[in-house]
Amino acid sequence: MVVLGIETTCDETAAAVVERFEDGRGRILSNVVLSQVSEHAAFGGVVPEIAARAHVEALDVIINKAMTQAQRRYNNIDAIAAAAGPGLIGGVIVGLTTAKAIALVNEKPLIAVNHLEAHALTARLTDHTPFPYMLFLASGGHTQVVAVRGVGDYVRLGTTVDDAIGEAFDKTAKLLGLGYPGGPQVEKEALKGDPNRFALPRPMVGRPDCNFSFSGLKTALRLEAEKIAPLSDQDVSDLCASFQAAVVDVILDRIRTGLRMFRNKYGAPTALVAAGGVAANQVIRKVLHRLAFEIGTVVVAPPPELCTDNGAMIAWAGAERLALRLTDGLAAAPRARWPLEEVAGVQPAAPYRALNRS
Ligand code: KG4
Ligand code: ZN
Repeated sequence: MVVLGIETTCDETAAAVVERFEDGRGRILSNVVLSQVSEHAAFGGVVPEIAARAHVEALDVIINKAMTQAQRRYNNIDAIAAAAGPGLIGGVIVGLTTAKAIALVNEKPLIAVNHLEAHALTARLTDHTPFPYMLFLASGGHTQVVAVRGVGDYVRLGTTVDDAIGEAFDKTAKLLGLGYPGGPQVEKEALKGDPNRFALPRPMVGRPDCNFSFSGLKTALRLEAEKIAPLSDQDVSDLCASFQAAVVDVILDRIRTGLRMFRNKYGAPTALVAAGGVAANQVIRKVLHRLAFEIGTVVVAPPPELCTDNGAMIAWAGAERLALRLTDGLAAAPRARWPLEEVAGVQPAAPYRALNRS
């Protein structure tokens, strides 16, 4: 089963071709990602209008590249998948509409993939991870702890009540005059800094749920920075190290609580799966390994290029859904907001060949 996947929900224009074998294993035939980072850098964050226009300009070239690298033509592809949300709606419309056009012209089924579901299922492409597992998705737009029990069977155990973790890193970087995206810069600076110099809060630690909050931490950091301004290089490093230490403590406590919730409800998870750009952070990865070790499970952290937004994860989620005959009609709507729990799972026969009139 071979699926073309299209991703345009944020600032990456991406397309990929992925194959799924009958035993449930997967293989990436091509994975092409064009990052718009440079176009947004001057603004310190993603500008939706700029993102949508950039997707329009680049998408056809990126799709052609993905098809060429995979050495496939549309007549030997089984379905077209596109991220239909959640995300910046302009970009989502560009990707989904393009996918619909390709599906219609080539008489192939369309699969409207939830972007979060694609992050959630990537571990099955890379590591063939069996259900049920716990997902910790931490990116610039999302902070979610999810029990992944099957395709279309997701239970959110926790989320952020304000900023996403990546957003907190990006805002910290912006405040301290570091570049965008902020995560890698903050991590680099933190290596040279003293994590104990500033006593920053650990929001939500000790709470019985596994939710997160970062706005108080951000404010506390700003106040500390203002107190000692102008900042020396060492001050910046110490602030980064203290910030990262606080985030790590929060993650340790929150994920530990999440794992406990998971075990109480569903038994032991087969793995703790990390996804999203923040999972590239080495200190955070170390904490996740420690947590997994504590409960006798393993960490599955896909390689960075599959942790951040990409087309392969969309194609793969499409293939997993196609295997269950979960396809969509051409009326599938783009969605700015689309909680994982609203993703449909296995249902009575979806019209698998609805688009295949031949
Ligand atoms: O998944 P992603 O590429 O895009 C979405 O947001 O969907 O994640 C990007 C986010 C940014 O906020 C970036 O600052 C953060 O991931 N990030 C990191 C690191 N690398 C990327 N955060 C902390 N440490 C890192 N090494
Ligand atoms: Zn993402």
